[in-house]
Amino acid sequence: MSLPFHVASHLDSALQAAANTVGLAGRGFSPEVRVADPAHGDFQANGALAFAKREKQNPRALAQQIVDALDASVKADFDISLAGPGFINFRLKPAALFAWLQTYDSEEHLQAAAAAAHAGQTWVVDYSSPNTAKQMHVGHLRSAVIGEAICRMLAFTGARVIRDNHLGDWGTQFGKLIYGYKRWADPAALAADPIEELERLYKLGHAATPDGSPELEEARAELVKLQNGDPANVALWTKFSEVSLAAFQQIYDRLGIKFDHNLGESFYNDKVERIYRELTETGLAQESEGALVVFHPEHPRFKTQPFLIRKADGASNYASTDLATAAYRAEHFKADGIVVVTDFRQGDHFEQLFLTVKKWFAAKNYRLPELHHVTFGAVTGEDGKALKTRDGGTIRLKALLDEAEERAFALVTEKNAELPETERRDIARAVGVGAVQYADLAQNRSSNYVFSWDKMLALDGNTAPYLLYAVARIRSIFRKAGLDPAHPPVASASAPETAQELALARKLVQFSDAVQIATSQLRPHFLCLYLFELAGAYSGFYAADKVIVDDPAVRARRLLLCHRTLIVLETGLHLLGLRTLERM
Ligand code: ARG
Repeated sequence: MSLPFHVASHLDSALQAAANTVGLAGRGFSPEVRVADPAHGDFQANGALAFAKREKQNPRALAQQIVDALDASVKADFDISLAGPGFINFRLKPAALFAWLQTYDSEEHLQAAAAAAHAGQTWVVDYSSPNTAKQMHVGHLRSAVIGEAICRMLAFTGARVIRDNHLGDWGTQFGKLIYGYKRWADPAALAADPIEELERLYKLGHAATPDGSPELEEARAELVKLQNGDPANVALWTKFSEVSLAAFQQIYDRLGIKFDHNLGESFYNDKVERIYRELTETGLAQESEGALVVFHPEHPRFKTQPFLIRKADGASNYASTDLATAAYRAEHFKADGIVVVTDFRQGDHFEQLFLTVKKWFAAKNYRLPELHHVTFGAVTGEDGKALKTRDGGTIRLKALLDEAEERAFALVTEKNAELPETERRDIARAVGVGAVQYADLAQNRSSNYVFSWDKMLALDGNTAPYLLYAVARIRSIFRKAGLDPAHPPVASASAPETAQELALARKLVQFSDAVQIATSQLRPHFLCLYLFELAGAYSGFYAADKVIVDDPAVRARRLLLCHRTLIVLETGLHLLGLRTLERM
């Protein structure tokens, strides 16, 4: 007997097939299988109820008919019962749970089983995407952390993922920056902390070029020279991009992020003419006071709020480059899906962009990828205000990650003073950065999130330290028993028996549903919540059922559960971008 990885969709197909044999084919019946309240079963199908209501039939009788027609293998794997007005409840039998546990025995095998969802698809994920010559801020941290988790979930479910850092590396600010640079650049400061120095030079350049001044004309002339390919200015601009990227990379390294491409706004410079032409040709764009704009007459706001795709002075902007970016991703990367991860405040921009792309691609008969704008809320301090340093400045990401590691080091030292310092430092890196990542991922990304060191570093609760500790604890069981978790001695294991063993096994089987919902909704918090519940089920089991016992059959059965909990927890944490530890 072997149960498929994704039990809910397996049940869904089985119910659909059964419904077809009792005459429901082509009549809009949908089984609606979901994870059930544990009091009722493991899965519940609600579809008979909705269908019977619509067709004025008796829902319980219909549900019974469908159940009777179910394939024999389903009846062998599940205890099936009807409840209420016509719900069908399914509870996995211990032998079926055991079959699942035997089959999915490593991170690789879990991944192979999950890969069906996006097999053969290419997804481009645009995340982090900071502006060059500027510090990354907390919003870019959220984008980086959420974006990386999404990349990993998509890759785990079979997609070829292209990580694209869409740098803000073009725009009018470079005129003022070059103006400041040519007058006040300090080579030593530039070598020590390039972004800090570039920010200083931009501020000086900005202050020295007030509206209407001849200095502003000079700054504009620098910009025009840059745009026309003046070698000196192009060399400066290239240097700005290079030092910025090198500084960003230090943050990415700590977060375990490696981009495949850094195709910033400048890359699309020579690709915007086509946008103006095609959008005009197809009648989507129109001239308005010298500018080129797109309206969406069917939309309550965008029928009057223009999507400005070329400025009155002829210059391209964020919208023109993003239109060219969509075409490039669809054509060059042959993307089946595009995900852009930014702050919710860019909501209007992406709604207008996607509406425009859909109409433009339809008019031109281009193949349209799925388009997703993944938004997130603001980060606030515990006072509810935007997160700032004590003196009101913006928080440097480097300083934030340093502080996380320092705090984690104190925590690790408290728990494990006897470990050598180098090892405690290494653990603190994983725990500190992991805590920052996990705190961001664990809440629904649409809400604002309150940044709290104490909460994210707590050893209990839905936190990284709690989950990393759960992993380390299972590893220590193996270590203390002299066993290698890569080769767990579980050949003589049998089906789970005690209440806690069964509860833990049921939770393990739901991993596939957690991955499925988190990935399809591009919301990692569903996976976090699942891992937290799994760790809870494990604690319940560990407290009730001793693992290392004399009876070899009981021991093998419980070691199997320990091992599968370990691999599912580790797989889940890796999917979120965290590094797991041997000990903590
Ligand atoms: N550079 C932008 C910012 O810092 C984010 C870019 C997001 N990606 C895009 N294709 N527009 O807010």
